[in-house]
Amino acid sequence: KCPMADMATRMLTFPDPLTGELLPDDNVENQVATFLVAGHDSTSTAITMLLYQLAQHPEVEERVYREVMATVGNGPISWEALGKMEYCMQVVKENLRLFSPATWYNKMSPADRTVQLGPYEIPPDTAVMISTWGLHRNPKVYPNPERFDPDRWSPEQCAGRSPYAWLPFSYGKRACIGAQLSLIEQRMVLAELVRRFHIRLDSSTQLTISEPLFLNPQGIYLRVVARTQEAPPPTTFVASQPASDFDVGDLEGLHGKQLVVLFGTNTGSCEDLADKMYRRGTAMGMACTKAPLDAVCQADSLPLPKGADGVVLVITSTYNGKPPENAKQFDQWLGSPEASERLQGVRFSVFGCGNRQWAATFVAFASKVDDCLTAAGGQCLVPLAIGDMDTGDAEAAFARWDVAFCIALLRSHGLPLPKDIAASLYPKVLEYDTYLLQGKGYGDLPVPEREAVRDRSLGTAAKLFATGCKPFEAAPLCNRELLVGAVGRSTRHIEIALPEGLAYTAGDHLGVLAANPEEGVQAYLDY
Ligand code: HEM
Ligand SMILES: Cc1cc2nc3c(=O)[nH]c(=O)nc-3n(C[C@H](O)[C@H](O)[C@H](O)COP(=O)(O)O)c2cc1C
Repeated sequence: KCPMADMATRMLTFPDPLTGELLPDDNVENQVATFLVAGHDSTSTAITMLLYQLAQHPEVEERVYREVMATVGNGPISWEALGKMEYCMQVVKENLRLFSPATWYNKMSPADRTVQLGPYEIPPDTAVMISTWGLHRNPKVYPNPERFDPDRWSPEQCAGRSPYAWLPFSYGKRACIGAQLSLIEQRMVLAELVRRFHIRLDSSTQLTISEPLFLNPQGIYLRVVARTQEAPPPTTFVASQPASDFDVGDLEGLHGKQLVVLFGTNTGSCEDLADKMYRRGTAMGMACTKAPLDAVCQADSLPLPKGADGVVLVITSTYNGKPPENAKQFDQWLGSPEASERLQGVRFSVFGCGNRQWAATFVAFASKVDDCLTAAGGQCLVPLAIGDMDTGDAEAAFARWDVAFCIALLRSHGLPLPKDIAASLYPKVLEYDTYLLQGKGYGDLPVPEREAVRDRSLGTAAKLFATGCKPFEAAPLCNRELLVGAVGRSTRHIEIALPEGLAYTAGDHLGVLAANPEEGVQAYLDY
């Protein structure tokens, strides 16, 4: 049974936490109508067009299949696993680019002033029609725009593209509130269908598109053929393995120390993460408390440990640049003299959960809390860490923060680090594990499969290695020997070009990661 109350139960029986009142019946009726219209046809159109695209691009279907099998095999698809299926997300995004179910929507310009939009002067209170159909087909942003190409959404191709060049769910305060749900639904359908079936277009298909409200495609006929190929053994254990599965154990040196885990949330993700940190602290022998951020400034205010007495962890989301519901009072309180006094000398670290689709206000509230805690004289134990729900990187970012927190905490109390903590920082390369599980030697795999496995492994390894840096590929502009006539010694003068937007001044840190020779990498994989 689902532990969460469903939407109807909530609307009919849950009082507003602030006013204590239930929703009036006519409001419930309107909400139901809105959710049926906004939440059903939109996603069903998106999925129809997704399957239509897939049916015409077997090479895309194959890549989706490989990714799903490498991540979960035939096992259940968890939220964490979805986050790891990056190519599935690329396919979903590319389909929403070409066939946004909402092909247009209106936005009103500010009522009190004239504004400039590019070369256009917009009078006050004017309706501006946004055409996603046109926006998503701008050839300057999407070369050859009619082509279905999920690789447009690879991190490399996305870099530098405006976040406002893809707006299927609109943007701002009145953006779609069902976007995340819909993206989950679409990826689940894609992954579940592709791992069982091949999808092909029937020749009787004659696509017509009308637009009563959302895009309404008709005349698509698909053939669904069960996959006969023996699936590789499930690799669920890889996906379900938490990224940081180290165990610090009960530490005497931490007994009596306090861990206060504060969370800000509307839909529960940050409270789940807070639970994890609460369990982490309890397992280490700390005295733990978990509470919403507002509890800090309410009547029986929560005591905050100072200095070496303990640590305060804050895990919070952001909504349209503002705090979530249970952190609003805390937000007001932050600038008060009482806050400065109580936060002075508190050791803290903040984890912000957000979504980069809200580009202008990405993790804005978590950043504000981090700044305010520092300004009030708090001692930052681990720098602000950020989880992006859009890319699915949030779990991994959280795991890294968890490890960083444990290391900083143990160091600050002069305690030794557990041995397996380092290994947990470098999760195994999934594809390589899958290959091992298939029970075949690398050389026995068919060549295209072999290349795909290798490319993915190298890509994943490079990404893990470069996480947190600002990596770029640098071609040497100049590379010459300085020691003329010296035997057995070499000092070289090397110049590289920096990519646009990156500057270097004396004192900056530049790490150079040379590539390993192909043969060396290949030999290692063969071994
Ligand atoms: C592919 C699927 C979807 C697309 C393309 C989509 C698109 C949009 C767009 C463009 C808007 C803004 C309209 C405007 O500015 O006039 C919107 C608003 C909205 N959407 Fe979605 N939507 C989708 C799925 C969903 C789902 C699954 C739900 C609910 C479960 C949902 C609920 C809503 C609601 C309630 C609003 C109004 C929000 C407000 O006015 O504050 N949508 N959607
Ligand atoms: C209506 C709405 C507005 C949002 N606004 C922002 C935002 O301004 N900045 C941001 O980084 N994330 C934004 N998000 C993403 C949420 O912060 C993110 O999904 C977060 O993980 C939610 O965590 P919670 O379940 O703990 O509330 C928004 C999400 C929704 C649904």
